[in-house]
Amino acid sequence: MTVSDEVLVDVKGVKVHFPIRKGVIFDKTVGHVYAVDGVDLQIHKGETYGLVGESGCGKSTLGRAILNLEPPTAGSVDFDGVDIASLKGEELRHKRQDIQMVFQDPMGSLDPRQTVESLLLEGMKAHGLAKDSKAAGTRLRELLKAVGLPVAALKKYPHEFSGGQRQRIGIARALSVNPKLIVADEPVSALDVSVQAQVINLLEELQDEFGLTYLVVAHDLAVVRHISDRIGVMYLGALAEESDAEELYTRPLHPYTRALMSAVPVPDPLIEDRRERILLTGDLPSPANPPKGCRFHTRCPWRQETKCDTERPELRVVEIDGVPANHRVACHFAEQIEAGELKAHEVKAQLTSQSDHGSETDFMGPASVTEAL
Ligand SMILES: Nc1ncnc2c1ncn2[C@@H]1O[C@H](COP(=O)(O)OP(=O)(O)OP(=O)(O)O)[C@@H](O)[C@H]1O
Ligand code: SF4
Ligand SMILES: [Mg+2]
Repeated sequence: MTVSDEVLVDVKGVKVHFPIRKGVIFDKTVGHVYAVDGVDLQIHKGETYGLVGESGCGKSTLGRAILNLEPPTAGSVDFDGVDIASLKGEELRHKRQDIQMVFQDPMGSLDPRQTVESLLLEGMKAHGLAKDSKAAGTRLRELLKAVGLPVAALKKYPHEFSGGQRQRIGIARALSVNPKLIVADEPVSALDVSVQAQVINLLEELQDEFGLTYLVVAHDLAVVRHISDRIGVMYLGALAEESDAEELYTRPLHPYTRALMSAVPVPDPLIEDRRERILLTGDLPSPANPPKGCRFHTRCPWRQETKCDTERPELRVVEIDGVPANHRVACHFAEQIEAGELKAHEVKAQLTSQSDHGSETDFMGPASVTEAL
């Protein structure tokens, strides 16, 4: 589908901080989880934006903030030119119809006691789209056809389907209210690899058919590669890098993206043997106590003592020949690293400082990016 210049979703300086509370009698806020900590991104009409990053980096929270299910602590989200947080009551309900979610675990999001027919009708009724029962029946059959399920599925219950089929029902449910944007949060992570490609292909077909815009959230770069027009790489609540999908795969510039890419196997055994691997040591720091300066400095093989530990890098346009302006990187030294002027050094595994607030705030991620993938 052609991507328009028109912006559908405009995320401006969004932060979502969750308070950490302690105490039985006095409910005291003792700190915050900085789940999303300053994100700017735009999604154009007809575009698929892939958002990737390790577990706990804030992808789902950002997705929920776009739907205003998690009201931002700071910043705003404009949808189709309207600040969602400014809407109330009927207006908000109407806008919500335009934005639907597809979840990782369709079993968890589909009520097991309802037939597929009643699951699909639920949303349509809520938005007044099922007043004429004949038209609603036609619509249900169209929806099933669109997601590749037989009409007989209408009378069945979620447990009677395979994981891939259940995800098709989840997608049909999202489609049932004619949304403009679908936020798909890890839509294929729970599925077998063979089924993953089918569901991704289905999402692509539906995009063309219904003129949809997608935000696809995944921890696996391979999942977003083929479906995305652009990709944002997230690390500890912020974007580390953003660019066109192919550009990101051919020329990752942020050290974190370089490490993520180096963990993805290459099919050609000769290239696979020779290519550079960047293994990240150290844990993903806690979002309750993120490192000062560049958030990636505790794990970065190119960390420099000037700047990296003290100044937080902005997501910026880089000055490298042939790199387009929409390829932005949050690294002070992106140019010098790309030019080979700075060499990667070994990073000693360092204990990421735990929050001062005790074990309740233990938000450690996987030991390495490779493990996360
Ligand atoms: N309601 C909440 N209250 C407190 N902390 C929360 C809440 N929701 C999320 N968090 C914390 O915010 C951080 C980001 O969580 P989020 O679910 O957005 O990450 P994610 O990137 O989607 O991870 P995953 O890949 O595991 O789904 C995590 O440390 C998480 O524990
Ligand atoms: S700013 Fe410094 S620590 Fe951060 S990614 Fe760049 S080189 Fe590494
Ligand atoms: Mg998530």
